[in-house]
Amino acid sequence: MGGKIDRRTFLKQAGALTAATAIPLSLVEVVWGKESGEKFTFAYISDSHLTQIKGTKFVRNFDNGLKRAITEVNFMSPKPDFVVYGGDLAQLGKREEIDHGLEMMSSLRTPVRWVIGEHDYYLDLGKYWEEKVSPLNYSFDHKGVHFVVLNSILTYDSWLDKWSKDPMARMLQMARLDNPQGSPFMVKDPQIEWMTKDLAKVDRKTPVVVLSHSPLYKIFKPWNFWTEDAEKVQKALKRFKKVTVLHGHVHQVLYNQEGNISFYAMMSTAWPWPYPTTYNQAQSAVPKLTVFMNRGDPHSERDGTGWGYLDLDSGRAGHHYELWENSARTVKYDSRRKKPQDTKYQDPKDRIPPQKHY
Ligand SMILES: [Fe+2]
Ligand SMILES: [Fe+2]
Repeated sequence: MGGKIDRRTFLKQAGALTAATAIPLSLVEVVWGKESGEKFTFAYISDSHLTQIKGTKFVRNFDNGLKRAITEVNFMSPKPDFVVYGGDLAQLGKREEIDHGLEMMSSLRTPVRWVIGEHDYYLDLGKYWEEKVSPLNYSFDHKGVHFVVLNSILTYDSWLDKWSKDPMARMLQMARLDNPQGSPFMVKDPQIEWMTKDLAKVDRKTPVVVLSHSPLYKIFKPWNFWTEDAEKVQKALKRFKKVTVLHGHVHQVLYNQEGNISFYAMMSTAWPWPYPTTYNQAQSAVPKLTVFMNRGDPHSERDGTGWGYLDLDSGRAGHHYELWENSARTVKYDSRRKKPQDTKYQDPKDRIPPQKHY
């Protein structure tokens, strides 16, 4: 790795919202980009799926997941420069759910960069999100890194037309994981053109980080672990030396390398999804590189959930997974192997045996 690493260990105090435990966390501060010498870390919270039961009543477990992540991010030291929210803040895109999420997120002590998920979008096609939360696609620069935020959960107009008279039916169709009535996610040509134009002004040596909700590659279509026009997006990123895609949606530890692009998935604060390889009726392309997380224990409401933070080492990501019921994991870009590697478990000899539930 090109950068100088300055490790600092700190003790993170758990706040009133979490159990009264002290969790030691090792935060890595990295000098990247020799010219600027600036360091930064940002946190990533995703897929909270806040679900309204009735009126002001929401599903407690999902509320608690988001509250815990916010508390832990607020206790990070050094403080992250910003927080990325990776989408699926709401469960059924309702205003009440989005408002509830915004109220909770307002207690974060750092600015938030928002990415929209399908659960936020398909009730009103992103109108309330745009009005209250954030634009659906935009870009920004931070300490020498160019960030592009995409709305990657668009779909075919012909599918939208089918549900135009019943927005909640449209939302419910997209909210189902294994639904033959659903439709694949897409970035779509106008947004790819916007991104191409946006990137035209960026030097090819500048590190580029793309934030999307769905993975910008193809894993498993029946579950929409998939972006239909991923190849077009990848092509638009081809000329850059260092590209990282960070995405939510899959609710699990997942990382990959395709060409010049490294992909890292974020955890959900609500629940874990299994890996599609466990579903043997259809083919999946779960990256061979990924060391799976152990399946979540269904008897523990926090297992298989968590949040993450990232540092950029010379413009390449180091992703730290904070798993609430499992050991923390770090997956870092390995410049010798030219792909992300788990710093502890990549070697099969070092893997943790799967959990056994009775
Ligand atoms: Fe989700
Ligand atoms: Fe999603």
